[in-house]
Amino acid sequence: MSEHTVTITDNKTGKSIELPVKQSTIGPQAVDIGRFFREMGYFTYDPGFLSTASCQSELTYLDGDKGQLLYRGYPIEQLAEQSNFIEVAYLMLYGDLPTAQQLSDFNNVIIRHSMLNESLKRLFEGFYHDAHPMATMVGVVGSLSAFYHDSTDIGNVEHREIAGHRLIAKMPTIAAASYKHSVGEPQVYPDNSLSYTGNLLKMMFSVPCEEYEIDPVAERALDLIFILHVDHEQNASTSTVRLAGSSLANPFACISSGITALWGPAHGGANEAVLNMLNEIGEVKNIPRFLERAKDKSDPFRLMGFGHRVYKNYDPRARIIRKMCHEVLENLCDMNDPTLELARRLEEIALNDEYFIERKLYPNVDFYSGLIYKAIGIPTNMFTVMFAIARTVGWVAQWMEMIGEDNQRIGRPRQLYTGRGERDYIAIDKR
Ligand code: SDX
Repeated sequence: MSEHTVTITDNKTGKSIELPVKQSTIGPQAVDIGRFFREMGYFTYDPGFLSTASCQSELTYLDGDKGQLLYRGYPIEQLAEQSNFIEVAYLMLYGDLPTAQQLSDFNNVIIRHSMLNESLKRLFEGFYHDAHPMATMVGVVGSLSAFYHDSTDIGNVEHREIAGHRLIAKMPTIAAASYKHSVGEPQVYPDNSLSYTGNLLKMMFSVPCEEYEIDPVAERALDLIFILHVDHEQNASTSTVRLAGSSLANPFACISSGITALWGPAHGGANEAVLNMLNEIGEVKNIPRFLERAKDKSDPFRLMGFGHRVYKNYDPRARIIRKMCHEVLENLCDMNDPTLELARRLEEIALNDEYFIERKLYPNVDFYSGLIYKAIGIPTNMFTVMFAIARTVGWVAQWMEMIGEDNQRIGRPRQLYTGRGERDYIAIDKR
């Protein structure tokens, strides 16, 4: 069969170009426009990248219309039901589900990287006590290359793997230390006998003066939510990590740039914004007024936790978390928490509102996750930190895939220039 191509013709000059179509395993194929500027003299224009594939990847597949999410081909629903976060981390890094021995070995590697360099621990003292924990995360993760420069030769595959393991392993310890600094309590060392999320809970909530018992419901709920947040194709923060990595910056700096991008309320910062929004709405009777604000273009208010660039159906992760809410809230806190009822009523009213239906605006992963974090006792300003811990697996996997490509090149987009034409300098006394 002849090569699949797409022809574009310039109706001004009559000139045409035949562009090859790159084949996908599933989902849309892509027109390779690499020659377009050189041969046709035009840039392609796609702010927000609504129709642009920035790379090819084998990691995660989304179908926005079906509300489908696959990690290395495995449906998120099956991984949520049957797997655990460390096993999903192995799957994303190495491409297949591990054998029992591979999983045990990988878990041991991650556990043994969970401690922080003692000098690094003092870095937290430099942050103001009420610094937002995401600010601390950006600073401390970015500083890791100053402590672990023995794994920053990105041309060395082993260095790349050690740096990736260190990042996945240390994120909970750094997150917990950021939290402890904000509440004026002493940092807690990781405990290698615990699970990934059990360790995080203990490092966050235990204090030296009494025993701490990990709630298995909270431990499992956090593990499940982390699985759902591991990766999500070329979202804003992952694209940031890839772009930073394409300049051959060290992996710690790249992941720190991802944390920065995730912090925005249009992205990972939405989970914190959802809880703040629900608190602002306060009662069910106020919902119509806030929905009107969400539709009013002159009002910056948006319904946080609703809408998605890709999902034009229910976010499959939101569906799983929504289901989990009831089970978890029943066990972790008094079920008459009005916030869950308010969230459910808000969702019900919005999903029956023409504005939201017409624009296919559904709850996304951030709409319900904050309710679980709140039930576990995680403060609102730590919600996006939780997202960053889990997404570090996806960022590391995407960075490894990008840096390992044969034809890896620096990412350098062009622009449509609409500024002033060339003009001469005017002396100040003549202006
Ligand atoms: C995450 O990309 C990923 O994969 C991200 C993520 C991941 O796992 O990495 O899934 C995680 O970031 C989830 C999204 C969390 N953000 C929020 O919940 C913030 C609220 N949502 C919106 O800001 C918005 O929906 C975005 C940012 C998520 C998507 O923005 P788009 O794709 O640019 O959509 P858009 O702004 O073009 O909206 C289309 C229309 C517009 O109205 P019209 O101009 O057509 O009249 O829908 C409206 C928007 O005004 N709209 C909303 C809305 N979201 C979109 N109106 C009110 N409330 C909203 N939440």
